Amino acid sequence: MRIAVLKERAAGERRVAITPETVKKFAGFGAELAVESGAGDTASISDADYAEAGASVGSAADTVKGADIVLGVQAPDLELLNGAKPGAWVAATFDPFGARDRVEAYAKAGLEALSMEFMPRITRAQSMDVLSSQSNLSGYKAVIAAANQYGRAFPMMMTAAGTVQAARVFIMGVGVAGLQAIATAKRLGAQVSATDVRSATKEQIQSLGAKPIFVESVEGIEGEGAGGYASEMSEEYQKAQAELVSGHIAKQDIVITTALIPGRAAPRLIRDEQIKSMKPGSVIFDLAVAQGGNVEGSKPDKLVVRHGVTIMGYSNTPAHLAPDTSALFARNLFNFLSAFWDKEAGKPVLDEEIGDAVRLTQGGEVVNKRLKENG
Ligand code: NAI
Repeated sequence: MRIAVLKERAAGERRVAITPETVKKFAGFGAELAVESGAGDTASISDADYAEAGASVGSAADTVKGADIVLGVQAPDLELLNGAKPGAWVAATFDPFGARDRVEAYAKAGLEALSMEFMPRITRAQSMDVLSSQSNLSGYKAVIAAANQYGRAFPMMMTAAGTVQAARVFIMGVGVAGLQAIATAKRLGAQVSATDVRSATKEQIQSLGAKPIFVESVEGIEGEGAGGYASEMSEEYQKAQAELVSGHIAKQDIVITTALIPGRAAPRLIRDEQIKSMKPGSVIFDLAVAQGGNVEGSKPDKLVVRHGVTIMGYSNTPAHLAPDTSALFARNLFNFLSAFWDKEAGKPVLDEEIGDAVRLTQGGEVVNKRLKENG
């Protein structure tokens, strides 16, 4: 059983899918590990660290040669996978809805693509869920980056020369990233409020000591769709939300938006007239910028100034904390494969619930139900 990990090649990607810790853990199952030279450089892991943990370190071609499983943060380009065993598994993020061509190409190449984004949201899969582990740190980073950009202090400070006011921070979208953003802004001493379409988040917001801002006036609202994700809201709801948020946003110093709907463009939460209502010097961090953006005018990796308000967002937020996000990503992959390790077969054998959810391609075909229904 040979497990191979290549250097990530996507622009701006700094993470790596294996760490010395998970090399040792996989070796404990009798696997042979191969890592491309330089794979860990941008996540502060050297070739020597991998070698010391027991992996062989070499060129891309040598690494992939004879691999049964290839691990990646982002799915590698097919030409890099020449030499892997026929039917080899590739466990990585595939952006299955956005990159359909790549999925088709993996099918044609006879590879078995396992999409980590499609991990089901069930209790036993929590430790395997890369969306959660990466979003968590992204929520933290968004607040830190916005605080750095903001020209004032976060906590209220009473000094001999007078009082510095606490920053007002508003979090829109309280999933995994939003919850961590609330916690981080609170730790920095800001006055924090938050909103979501899923009513279950109200209590979570309160339990972190922040103020919930919710649309109450529209009948029959429940924004929770399948698998704990948000669903798209009615026009009536969107209008009521825009009004409520407009009044609130005008008083905020920092806004962090995190709203996503799986398989669709990110919902637009902030429009130009709302940006205009904010005080000059305010900062908006759009965590959804790479999925189309929650904020009008936001651009990945650019500081956009509109009406004196700075709008920012990264195309790949987890890559800005690569050593930590890599460690969690690598553990997610290990937790996934080790949970299914069949000692007799000497390899993982997936069950139906999780296997069918994450498997995109098999036997030359696209086999994923969710992808076929929504593609
Ligand atoms: P996400 O990344 O898909 O979306 C972020 C947040 O934006 C969500 O809370 C969503 O409700 C919200 N949102 C969407 N449209 C909005 C709008 N128009 N206005 C305001 N907010 C909007 O969500 P994420 O972080 O993946 O979490 C969703 C849920 O899944 C959470 O309850 C989380 O605890 C749960 N979860 C469960 C897991 C498990 O059991 N294995 C693993 C990960 C998450």
